[in-house]
Amino acid sequence: MKLRSLALAAAGMALAGCHTDMWVQPRVKYYQPSEFFADQSGARTPPAGTVPRGQARTDDPKYTGRTPDGKLVTELPARLVLDGQEVDTRTELGKVLRVGKDRFTAQCSHCHGAAGDGQGMITKRGLVLRRPPASYHTDRLRKMPIGHFFDVMTNGFGTMFPANYRLDPDERWAVAAYIRALQLSQAMDPDALTPEERAKLGGAN
Ligand code: HEC
Repeated sequence: MKLRSLALAAAGMALAGCHTDMWVQPRVKYYQPSEFFADQSGARTPPAGTVPRGQARTDDPKYTGRTPDGKLVTELPARLVLDGQEVDTRTELGKVLRVGKDRFTAQCSHCHGAAGDGQGMITKRGLVLRRPPASYHTDRLRKMPIGHFFDVMTNGFGTMFPANYRLDPDERWAVAAYIRALQLSQAMDPDALTPEERAKLGGAN
């Protein structure tokens, strides 16, 4: 019995010895800074000319928010797959906006506010950033093509991190559409409404 436990202890030590090197080897974990690279980022972009495996989506406006000549897309893609359902964005905009609202509320409203005015809960409660979360209700952003909002979510903007790993491309388009709806909700010209639509506002105009 004694011999056996001795042998076990020896084997344990030997085995632990084998592995130690691999456990403590120098390596960069996700999002860790690196002293090695000049830009100090541990995350590297693939070298130029790298060919993606699987589905390459590098030049399709639906996945870049830009036309092949680099201009921002001005319209929603005709079809999106949202919550597993194919949606025609021309005829089923309500579905697009419902999903957009859901994702916006979960992923953006704590900074940008439920109305998109930049007054989210964590902004109000002391989030200190070099630049505050933007309000969407500025002339510049109202005039921006819808592709800009897709681009901001996909690539980040200034101090804002990208949301591409939280929202798939189709969800990002739905959020972009919802931002447009928020913009209209705060700056609608009542004269652009039909009398019936104005009546639905219940006197608020
Ligand atoms: C942690 C807080 C935070 C979250 C969450 C966040 N943002 Fe932002 N956002 C910012 C900040 C800060 C800026 C301003 C960045 C700058 O000007 O450098 C910004 C700017 C923007 C802008 C303006 C870009 C421009 O042209 O000025 C848009 C559009 C935007 N965010 C959309 C979104 C969307 C959509 C989401 C959700 C998917 C989101 N943001 C989530 C903090 C946030």
